[in-house]
Amino acid sequence: MSARVTLTNLAEMKLQGRPIVMVTAYDYPSAQAAEAAGVDVVLVGDTAAMTVLGYPSTVPVSLEEMLMMARAVRRGLVTPFLVGDLPFGSYEASSEQAVRAAQRLVKEAGCDAVKLERGGSSAERAEAIVDAGIPVMGHVGLTPQTAAALGGYRTQGRTAERAAGVARDALSLQDAGCFAIVFEAIPSEATEAIVPRLQVPVIGIGAGPATDGQVLVLNDLLGIYEGHVPRFVKRYANVRETMVEGVQAFAEDVRRHRYPAPEHCYTMARGEAGGLPKLLSEFDRAP
Ligand code: KIV
Repeated sequence: MSARVTLTNLAEMKLQGRPIVMVTAYDYPSAQAAEAAGVDVVLVGDTAAMTVLGYPSTVPVSLEEMLMMARAVRRGLVTPFLVGDLPFGSYEASSEQAVRAAQRLVKEAGCDAVKLERGGSSAERAEAIVDAGIPVMGHVGLTPQTAAALGGYRTQGRTAERAAGVARDALSLQDAGCFAIVFEAIPSEATEAIVPRLQVPVIGIGAGPATDGQVLVLNDLLGIYEGHVPRFVKRYANVRETMVEGVQAFAEDVRRHRYPAPEHCYTMARGEAGGLPKLLSEFDRAP
C-alpha cells in the first residue's frame, strides 16, 4: 500500500514537473476505483448534485448531502489526498459560516481539505478557513455555483481583460493561503500566461495543458452520466452503456425464466425437503 499523499507531496510534484492527477468521487465504490487507479487527489465535488443526485445544477446540493457522500468516499480511500467541496450557500455569508462548514467536512467526513469557488469575498473565507488550520483549494474561471452571474456555463477569460481578472482571482486565493487552485474552462493561452505567476499547483479542467495537473469528473470520464458533455471531457470508458446492457440482460433472463439457474440457488439440508409439506399442511386453510 502506498503512503498517503500530503500537501508537501503536491507542492513537490509541481516543482518537479510531475503532473497531479485528480478525479471526483461520490461514493464508496468510486473511491475504491480512484484508490486502485492510483490517483493523487480525490475531490468530492458538488458536481454530485447533477451526476449523482439529479439536480439541474450544483446550486441545490446541501452540506448534509455533501457530508454523506464525503463520508462514503473517505471509507473507500487510503492513499489519495481527499478534498471536500463546500457547496453553494455553506460559506459565502461570513467567515464564521465558512469555518464551521469546513470543520464539518474535516471532522465529520474525514476530508483532508476543502474547496471553494471564486476570488473576491471567497478569498477572505479561504483565509479564515486556512487560519482555522484547514487546507483550502481555490477554484477560478468557470465557477458553476455562480454560473448565472457569469452568463451561463461559458469559457472564462476570453479577452485579455477577463483573463487578467482570472489571474487576479487566482492570486488573491494564493495570497489567502490556498494550497492549490482549480482552473476551469479557461483558454489555453490565458492559462499559459497565468500559471508561471503562481507558486501553488494549478489543476486544470478545460484549461489546456499548461497546468500542474488535470481533473475530470469521474462520471464524465467513465461515461456513467447521460447529459451534456463539455468539450474538454475525454471519455475513457462507456460505463453507462455497460450498465444498461447488464440490466437489460437480467430483465431478459427473468422474463424468459433463465434466471435463477440451479447454481444461483440454496438447498435445504440433506433429506429435509421431503418432510416439509407435512409441516406446512398445518397452515393450510379451507378456501
Ligand atoms: O465539483 C466538481 O466536480 C468540481 C470539478 C469540476 C473540479 O469542482
